[in-house]
Amino acid sequence: MSERATPPPATAATTPDMAAFWMPFTANRQFKSAPRLLSSAKGMYYTSHDGRRILDGTAGLWCVNAGHCRDEIVAAVQAQAAEMDFAPTFQMGHPKAFEAATKIAKHTPGDLKHIFFTNSGSEAVDTALKIALAYHRARGEGERTRLIGRERGYHGVGFGGISVGGIAPNRKAYSGAMLPAVDHLPHTLNIREAAFSKGQPAWGAHLADELERLVTLHDASTIAAVIVEPVAGSTGVLIPPQGYLQRLREICDRHGILLIFDEVITGWGRLGAPFAAQYFNVTPDLLTMAKGTNNAAAPMGAVAASARIHDAIVNGAPAGIELFHGYTYSGHPIAAAAACATIDLYEHEDLFARAAKMAPVFEAAIHKLKGERHVIDVRNLGLVGGVELQPRDGAPGARAYDVFVRCFQKGVLTRYTGDILAFSPPLIIDEAQIEELFRTMAEVLNEVD
Ligand SMILES: Cc1ncc(COP(=O)(O)O)c(C=O)c1O
Repeated sequence: MSERATPPPATAATTPDMAAFWMPFTANRQFKSAPRLLSSAKGMYYTSHDGRRILDGTAGLWCVNAGHCRDEIVAAVQAQAAEMDFAPTFQMGHPKAFEAATKIAKHTPGDLKHIFFTNSGSEAVDTALKIALAYHRARGEGERTRLIGRERGYHGVGFGGISVGGIAPNRKAYSGAMLPAVDHLPHTLNIREAAFSKGQPAWGAHLADELERLVTLHDASTIAAVIVEPVAGSTGVLIPPQGYLQRLREICDRHGILLIFDEVITGWGRLGAPFAAQYFNVTPDLLTMAKGTNNAAAPMGAVAASARIHDAIVNGAPAGIELFHGYTYSGHPIAAAAACATIDLYEHEDLFARAAKMAPVFEAAIHKLKGERHVIDVRNLGLVGGVELQPRDGAPGARAYDVFVRCFQKGVLTRYTGDILAFSPPLIIDEAQIEELFRTMAEVLNEVD
């Protein structure tokens, strides 16, 4: 992979007018007073607007798993855009959507081989919740409407996603308009018990038993589904305790409750297996994906449904539309073409096995940060890691923000949530680049107050 020619340094003339774009999940006033712009990308690197090479420690936003601007994906997108820009998938079809679903289904776990397309992770989550309700209703158990999420869970920003999600600031302004029948499991982080665990913490499987408590409280006959991220990403990388996911599965089975894995981050090789479901050997009933599905070359998400769920809804319905749900862009030709090329690339380059091979290198490098200033925990699994810092007195998040900005100034892109720095590089990262990520982080930790 050749690096792109470096663009000229930014000048006042080349910096865009920033007033109109109301940026998502961004401190708009702070950002626009000192913008950080990326203008091109190739392989493991971005080029910043001022012409600097930036090592991508986050695969964009946990999504560019095969590395940036891969020739095969670029070619597929270009060809599809020229051949057919759009075709509807409501009562019409086009070959690329079917091809992409077939390729996805080769990698999804168990019998989750029915793929419903969306345009984002948020839409995939809301779709999965709706499919869960539709499934119970199709079987004559329409009173199962309660949804169980988890504290600190991130399931996107739709009303379904924020209702089952557990990140307080994402819910606060909308708290009067949440889905009505929702409850939450406790999250699984306990720094006192499990700080600096390498991989899955030994402590904490018992937290899954809280589901039994919720079943007793609400009665199983009212509960449709439990949704969790197998590894909670956006909240700051919470690794599931050993045995925890297996126990959730068992409790769901005991009570006829569907288990949904939100694999928007863990899908497509992040842990060194196609999905976390295979990594942990726990098969959910529904699985959401987005991001890495097509290497983020175009917006795309999807839900994989088990045969039992698909058949109950599709074969159980009278003639006509079986599920009243879908998006204009479900299976968009350009997104679908990018997915086909991406999955081919994952297979040809055996990128999930590569991630598994690099995981111990990544683990050793990130855990060298133990003992550095401010660091109170390091957590990792596969090619995802989190470094939690002691917050500054009275200024939560400020220290991690400073670390993030300084890393960017030194040519490394990381991501921060609260006082946690998260790392999730493209799966093509090599040993020297892994060393560079955490060497830069260590330098910066020494520099910030
Ligand atoms: C687990 C999980 N679910 C859902 C989403 C939402 O995806 P999107 O931003 O594509 O709507 C994300 C995004 O990071 C996520 O990590």
